[in-house]
Amino acid sequence: MAAGLTSLHFLITLYFIVKIPLMFAQDDQFIYNGFNPENLHLNGAAQIHPNGVLQLTNNSQEEEVGHAFYRLPLKFNTSSSGLTQALSFSTNFVFAIVPEIPSKGGHGIAFTIRPSWKFTNVAAGNYLGLLNPSNNGRSTNHLLAIELDTTKAQGPFDKDNNHVGIDVNSLKSNESATATYFSDQEGKNISVELVSGNPMHLWIDYNETEKLLNVTLAPAGITKPNRPLLSTRIDLSQYLLESMYVGFSAATGTVTSDQYILGWSFNKSGQAQSLDVSKLPQLPRQRKSKDRQGQIIMILIIAVVVMLILVTGTAYNSRRKKFEEILEDWEKEYGPQRLTYKNLYNATKGFSDKEFLGAGGFGKVYRGTLPFSNTQIAVKKVSHDSKQGMKEFVAEIISMGRLRHRNLVKLLGYCRRRGELLLVYDYMPNGSLDKFLYSNEKPNLNWIQRFRILKGVASGLLYLHEEWEQVVLHRDVKASNVLLDAELNGRLGDFGLARLYDHGTNPQTTHVVGTVGYLAPELTRTGRATTCTDVFSFGAFMLEVACGRRPIELQGLPEEVVLVDYIFLCCGKGAILDASDPRLEGNYVVEEMELVLKLGLFCSHLVPEARPSMRQVVQFLDGNAKLPELPNDKACFGTSTSNEASDFLLSFPSSFSIASAPSYSSNDSILRSGR
Ligand SMILES: *[C@@H]1O[C@H](CO)[C@@H](O)[C@H](O)[C@H]1NC(C)=O
Ligand SMILES: *[C@@H]1O[C@H](CO)[C@@H](O)[C@H](O)[C@H]1NC(C)=O
Repeated sequence: MAAGLTSLHFLITLYFIVKIPLMFAQDDQFIYNGFNPENLHLNGAAQIHPNGVLQLTNNSQEEEVGHAFYRLPLKFNTSSSGLTQALSFSTNFVFAIVPEIPSKGGHGIAFTIRPSWKFTNVAAGNYLGLLNPSNNGRSTNHLLAIELDTTKAQGPFDKDNNHVGIDVNSLKSNESATATYFSDQEGKNISVELVSGNPMHLWIDYNETEKLLNVTLAPAGITKPNRPLLSTRIDLSQYLLESMYVGFSAATGTVTSDQYILGWSFNKSGQAQSLDVSKLPQLPRQRKSKDRQGQIIMILIIAVVVMLILVTGTAYNSRRKKFEEILEDWEKEYGPQRLTYKNLYNATKGFSDKEFLGAGGFGKVYRGTLPFSNTQIAVKKVSHDSKQGMKEFVAEIISMGRLRHRNLVKLLGYCRRRGELLLVYDYMPNGSLDKFLYSNEKPNLNWIQRFRILKGVASGLLYLHEEWEQVVLHRDVKASNVLLDAELNGRLGDFGLARLYDHGTNPQTTHVVGTVGYLAPELTRTGRATTCTDVFSFGAFMLEVACGRRPIELQGLPEEVVLVDYIFLCCGKGAILDASDPRLEGNYVVEEMELVLKLGLFCSHLVPEARPSMRQVVQFLDGNAKLPELPNDKACFGTSTSNEASDFLLSFPSSFSIASAPSYSSNDSILRSGR
C-alpha cells in the first residue's frame, strides 16, 4: 500500500517534470512554455488550463479582473545597494485575446511590474485590474505596465481600441502606438488586430544604461522585428522599488474577451530567450466566440439537416401524395381493372403536355404507353369532387369494361384518386372525328369513309342500347366523341360518363350533361336521359358528318345558324343536297347523302317517341329498311304549328309512335322547347 502511494507520488512528480517544460536556472530568469500553477500567483479570474495555458479573463464574465504573477519578487531598484544593471530586464510572452464578439473585445492585458502580487480595490474595464479611479496616477503606485489595450476609454485617455501603451503609475499611457509590427522583409509597418484571437508575441526590453524601454509586437511565429513598436526613454529608477513582482493583469468590462498567456520568457540579467511558438500549448478550443461560432455552425448544420429531412420528407410525402390513390374495399373485386396511378403517371410521362391529346367534356386526355405490355393507351382524367355515387359509377364503368364492340372504344381500366377518376382506354391513333371534319386541309374524309363511320357508330350505339345485358346510355354522342382507329373506323368513346354526374343528385338541381345542339329538348326540360335522347344526339351527329358543320353555328346567315332548320329549309326548296358538306365537292352517293340528311331530321324530332330507334337507324343505313319520303311541302318545315309537319311525321312507320304534334321551329326546337 505504502509502496503504491510512493510510486504514485513518483509518477505525479515525473508527470510535472515531463509534462510542464519548466526551465529556470536562477530566480531572475525563466521561460515558461505553458504554465504550472506552482510558478504563479493567480488572482481573480485567472486560471491555468490543464495544457498549461494561462487564462486571465473569461469572456462570459463582465467587469472581471484576473492576475498572474511570478511567484517570487525580483530585485529591481538596487542603486542604493550599488548593484549595476539591476533595472534592466528583458522579457517576451505570447498572448491571445479572443473577443466575445468578433473584433469587439475588452479590455486588455498589461504586463506589469509592481511591488506586490496582491491586489485590493482595483477596477476592471479601462483600469485593467491594476488601479482604480482614486489611485490612478499616484506616484506611490510604483507601477510600470505595458498595456495591450483593446478598448478606447472616454476622453484623451486612450488613442484607440487597438494599441500598445507604456503606463507609469497611471493607465494614461506615457506613450502608446496603434498595434502594428515592423516587417523586416517588407521594410514597413503592418497593422495587426489585438483582438484577432490569434496568438501574438510581445517583447519588452529595458536597458538601464540607455534608459530606453523598447516594446516590440509581432504575430506569433514571426521572429522579433528589428524595429520596436515603442521605444521610450524612461528612467525606471524613479518609479520602481527594490523588490518587485512581475506578471500580468487583465480585465473585462461591458465588452469581454478570453485573454490568454501561452508562454513567457523573462531574464533580469540579459536578453530573454525568445519563445519558440511551436513549443507553446494550444489555445483552448474557443469556448465562447469560437464556441459560439461552433454553435452557429452547429445550428446551421442542424438547420441544414432539419431542412434536408423536411425536404426529403416533403419530397417523400409529395412523392407519396403524387402517387396516392383511393382504393376502397368494395373495389377489390375490380382488381384486374384497377390500374395504379404510378403506372399511369409513368405511362403518360407524368401527364406531360407532350402527351396531351385534348380536353373533352369530362376531362383532359393524355396518351400513354403502359410499361411491359407496350400497349398504347389514352388516359382520361375526370375530375369529380364528391364520393357520391362513385361506387355505383365505378361498378358501371367496370361492367362497361366488359363491353365489346368494334365500334366502341375499349375501356381498359380505371384508377381513383382524391377528386379524380382516371379512365384508361385503348389509344385511337387517328384521334377524334371532328378534327377531320373541320379540317380544311385535304385529304378530308371522303364520303365512303364518312358513311362507314356513321354506320359503325350507329351499330355501336345500338349495341349499347339493345344488345348488351343492360341498357347503356351514351348521353353525349357527337363528332368529338367519335374516335377513329387506325383503319378510320369510327368508335364511340366516353359512353356512360354522364352517369357520374347523375347519381344521387337532387332532381331539382340536376344539371344536364351533354352538348348544346345535341341535347334532346325533353332532356333539357326533365333532365332525364333515355335511349330517345341518345337518338336525338345521333341525329345531330349524322347531320354534322354529312354537312361538315356543327348543329349550331353562330357565325353565318341567320337561317343557317341551326343546322336542322337549314336542312329543312333546303329540303323545302327541294334541294336538300345543298346542305351537304361543300368539302366533299359533290363527291358522294346521292342516295346515301339524302338518306343521312333525312334520317338526321327524323332523329331530331321534338317528340321522343317520334324518333326512330337505333335498331331502325341501323336498318335504314344498311338499306334493310326504306326511309319514308319526306313530304315535298315547304309548310312541313315551317313553324312549330305546322300541320303539315304533323302529317308528315304521322306518316312514319308505326314504331315511330307519335304522342303529339311536333314543332320544328328555329332555336326553340333545339335548345329550349320546354316552354
Ligand atoms: C467562464 O465562465 C462561465 C460562466 O461563469 C463558466 O461556465 C465557464 O466554465 C468559464 N470558463 C472557464 C474556462 O473558466
Ligand atoms: C531599442 O530599440 C532601439 C532602436 O531599434 C535600439 O537601438 C536599442 O538598442 C533597443 N534597446 C533595447 C534594450 O533593445
